[in-house]
Order: sequence, then structure tokens, then C-alpha cells
Amino acid sequence: MQSSAQLTFPDGFVWGAATAAYQIEGSVSADGRGPSIWDIFSHTPGRTRNSDTGDIACDHYRRLQEDLDLIKQLGLRAYRFSVAWPRIQPDGKGPANRAGLDFYQRLVDGLLERGVTPALTLYHWDLPQALEDAGGWTVRDTAQRFAEYAALVADALADSVGMWITLNEPWCSSWHGYGHGVHAPGRRRVADALAANHHLLLGHGLATQALRSAGAGAVGITLNLAPIRPASDHRDDLAAARRADGNLNRMFLDPLFRGAYPPDMVEHYAGRPGPTAVADGDQQVIADGDQQVIGDGDQQVMADGGGRVIADGDNRIIAEPLDFLGVNFYFPQYVADPSRLDAARCAGYAVRPAPADPVTEDLRAPAVTRSDVARTAMGWEVEPAALTELLTRVRQEYTSLPIYITENGAACDDYVDPGGKVADTDRIEFLDGHLRALADAMAAGVDVRGFFVWSLMDNFEWAEGYSKRFGLTWVDYPSGRRLPKASFGWYRDVIVANAIPPDSAGKM
Ligand code: FCB
Repeated sequence: MQSSAQLTFPDGFVWGAATAAYQIEGSVSADGRGPSIWDIFSHTPGRTRNSDTGDIACDHYRRLQEDLDLIKQLGLRAYRFSVAWPRIQPDGKGPANRAGLDFYQRLVDGLLERGVTPALTLYHWDLPQALEDAGGWTVRDTAQRFAEYAALVADALADSVGMWITLNEPWCSSWHGYGHGVHAPGRRRVADALAANHHLLLGHGLATQALRSAGAGAVGITLNLAPIRPASDHRDDLAAARRADGNLNRMFLDPLFRGAYPPDMVEHYAGRPGPTAVADGDQQVIADGDQQVIGDGDQQVMADGGGRVIADGDNRIIAEPLDFLGVNFYFPQYVADPSRLDAARCAGYAVRPAPADPVTEDLRAPAVTRSDVARTAMGWEVEPAALTELLTRVRQEYTSLPIYITENGAACDDYVDPGGKVADTDRIEFLDGHLRALADAMAAGVDVRGFFVWSLMDNFEWAEGYSKRFGLTWVDYPSGRRLPKASFGWYRDVIVANAIPPDSAGKM
């Protein structure tokens, strides 16, 4: 790991920060916006902490100019934001709602005027509710609708947006949304999560094609990836870690970069309608390569009428070549086999009751947490070296595409002190450590082009509502006032110097 000396980044390194529409915009019915799954979910009792919703959030929709100035003050080279699909297509189909597009046009123009590259995410989890009512991501039609929506946005903004990201963290959309049920739309079925997994990736491939036809520049996808570590080297824990790795990492990396779902996961999920249900064209893919994608049970699934999820040619569409890969990294995960939780406890792991949902029960790899490392306010382990490990693996096993860290950051127990300041030294330390780990990966040959802090400002942290603060900027929710934290000044200096100062964490 790089020491605490000054650390200079390559010229042209892209320093950014990220946000997402539902987490900051508010104004949920302004200018013709329709409801999204997150509006419905957050208004359902018991789904979010304090029943918080994104109705007002950071009021960014109305404070756009002020936030553009904040971005300028921070000195960002690029700003990653997402477009709210229900602002563009209030009920998920049909022509673009001009007023919705205009908002993003103003945002993009405002960024360009300030010399900031717009990095646009098409889907950061806010599916129009009308599409969910028609089956959501469990149905194929949603992938087609997504490509049409992508074309509408690209027709308006292709010339001005430098980076296009189709999906943000499709694992969260499919597995949290349709399997664990902790995110919108809150469904809990393994088969639904699997179908969503496939249709999201298909939507990504179709949207990539649509973006290219519309003349969009660099196109990529953002995945949430993490090293998965077994709680011990017992073979059952190793097998559990392999399953969890398959579910989180390889169910996305393999189809994107190898053109097929991972064989062990196909086998694991055989018997459920989902990516294991195969169609004619897949035989072709299998014949093309040496991957065994179809397990014995699969034909059975189809015969059972379990649903035909993967259609002819899908795998090729999903593996459409990209210009970059976006990686969101927060923490490594430790897992154990369910039969070995006592052993994990004895080895010093904190073991909490596993969530009672069908996906967790099916995967048999419950998470355990290390009690000997620092954790953020989310309870996530702080282990910067895991980022180096992750990126090196992606480079060695999957792709040499340029990589952008499209999110990294920490929720901290911030507060405004009596002097009116937020001295978030823990966040500075977190970012310092992860940037040094990133530099280690770059030194090892990973082509990393940029880094986006999550987040520009505190915002609606999904199921955690406003209880968790990730921002470089404090948001006073009752008044909407923005207050740059100490980390904001630190990051501004990093950007100006194109370098991390020596001992930056310790000095604050
Ligand atoms: C990621 C999400 C982002 C934010 C961070 C903390 O999973 O993409 O919206 O909630 O986690």
C-alpha cells in the first residue's frame, strides 16, 4: 500500500463526484414527472427508515443553479448524475416529455459552461411505476422500453454528454429489488430476481446499441463489485464464498465480458425460471465457446413451463463492446456457510441473524462482519486494499477496458459543530486510503481513468432515508442550506494539485 507521502495522479485523471436523481431532486410531480417505483416504495409504511421519502430530498430540482455553483466551487472535472426516467416518460413509454428533458439540458449546459464533463447515468433505480405494474424488470418488455428511453435521452443530449452509463448497480436493482425486497419494488422471489438480472443486462445491451446509433460518446455500465471472502478456509465456507461471488460479481461480469452466465451459477439456479431457462440461440453461443452454460435441469425448467427468459441472441446483445467499465466500491464482504456460523463467531466475527428472505436462504452464504476493523456509519468494513484486489482481478480475469471508479465514499456520523463546521476527518481518511489503494492498482497495470466521490452532498440514502450522510457537503434538510464539509475543501485541494497531499488524513 502506498505510504502517506504526496501521491500524484496522471495528467488528465478525471476527478468527479456523483449523485442520483431520486436521492437529490425532490419535486416529484413537477413538470409532468410520473411516479417511480421509489415513490411508491418509500410511501409504503415500513419500507424506509423514519418513513423518509424523496419527495423533497435536497430540493436539487429547484436549486439547480446553486448546485452548479457548488460543483464549480469544488472544481470537479466531471459530475455524475442520473436522469429520472419518469421525468422523460411519465408512464414509461411514448414520446419524451419536453419539460423533463429541459431540466437535464439546463444541467448539462450549466456543467459545460463551468468546464465540467457531464457523466450521465440513464438508470439509477427509478423505474416508472407504470412499467412495474406491467411486470417491471421481470418481463422482457421492460428491456425494450429502456432502450427506447435511452434513445430519447441520447437524441437530446448526445452532443453534450461525455460519458454515458446505462445502468447503476444492476445487482441492487435485481437482487435487492426483486429478491431481498429491501429496495423498490420490494418483491421477494428468487425467480423474479433472476429474471430481473437478465432483463436489466439485456436492457443495458439494447440501450448501448441505441446510444451508439444516436451518436453518444463513451458508453459503459456501472457495477457494484466487491471481493467476497470466506470466514475461514474450511471447504464449506470457501464454497459459500464462491456462491456469493457468483451472485454479486460473476452474474454480471461473465455475461458482459465472456458472453455467458457463469456455469456454477447456472447450475445453482437450475430449476427456477431465470437465466437458466435457455432458448435456441444459446446453443449457438455455447458452440462458439468452450463454456458449459446449459445444465441438465434447464430443459426441464422449460418443459415445466417455468418461463423462457433468455431468448435467441440475448447473450450477444449483453456482451456488446463498451468503452469503459464503471466500478462502485464500498467494502469487501465476508461470508460463511450457514452450518458454520458458530465457528465464525468463535473466530471473532460478528454474526447477526440473516435476513429472512428467499434469496438469502437459497444462496446459503450469510454475511458475517469482522469486528477487528474500522467500520463506517453504514456498518461497512473500511478496507482500502480490497479495492486494489478487486481491480486487479477485474483486469486479470475480465477486461482491460478503462475503468472509472464511479462511486466510493463513506457515511460518517457527521455533525455541525458549535463553530458552524463539519470536521469529517474520518471521511477524509477514508478517501485518502481508497485513492492510495487505487494508485496501487494503477501501478499494477489497471487502466483507471477517474474517480467519483459518493456523494457531492448528503442525500436520501434509499432504505436508510436521511439517517446516513455520505456528502462532501452537509445538507440541512429543514432549510435546504448547503454547507461544505472539511472533506469538500480537502477534495478541492486534491483536484487542484492532481495529487493527494502527504499525511492528509492525519493532518486534518
Ligand atoms: C450505492 C448507490 C448509491 C448510494 C451508495 C451509498 O449502492 O449506487 O446510490 O446509495 O450506494
